[in-house]
Amino acid sequence: MVLIVSALVAAFGLSLGAQTARADLNQLMRGVLYPAANVVFFAQSDDPAGVKQVAGQDPSMATDPLESTFGGWLAVENAALALSESADLLLTPGRVCSNGAAVPLGDPEWAKFAQELRDAGMKAYRAAQSKDPEKMVDASDALSTSCANCHRKWRERRTAAERCK
Ligand code: HEC
Repeated sequence: MVLIVSALVAAFGLSLGAQTARADLNQLMRGVLYPAANVVFFAQSDDPAGVKQVAGQDPSMATDPLESTFGGWLAVENAALALSESADLLLTPGRVCSNGAAVPLGDPEWAKFAQELRDAGMKAYRAAQSKDPEKMVDASDALSTSCANCHRKWRERRTAAERCK
């Protein structure tokens, strides 16, 4: 049985347990990368320390991380780390794009762009720790470049059917 399962895993790239992709790539972008990136981008033009918790609202229930119990610069640090960690999710086997095409894991550029995202996330984390607005501008630039490099190759197509190919 174990042999059959490992043969299946090897043959079809089936993934088990924690390594299973549950969202398609668009859902992963909308659910994880996009909201986290917006928290990081906020800090290139605004001061996270100036974000107030909303009066009368329980901060532990806040829907905006910046206004939450773990808000301000801490929210920026954590969003940056979430982005860095999300690079691994981009490499999870078995994920498909919204058009059903497999995520192009076999293309070396895919891994390269994922690494750019991982590095840009860590750069943003260090910038958030330093609370230096100039470093945040720099890190946000690196971050948006890492998103754009991959999008240029696999997302920006005439039709959605051509994405990821
Ligand atoms: C390694 C490649 C890669 C990286 C890095 C990447 N993306 Fe994406 N992204 C894609 C692809 C491909 C799609 C289209 C997916 C689909 O159609 O299923 C996409 C789709 C999206 C969408 C959904 C757009 C829509 O039409 O609904 C958003 C939002 C998004 N990305 C945001 C980001 C942000 C923000 C970053 C950087 C922090 C980022 N992405 C980094 C490849 C990438």
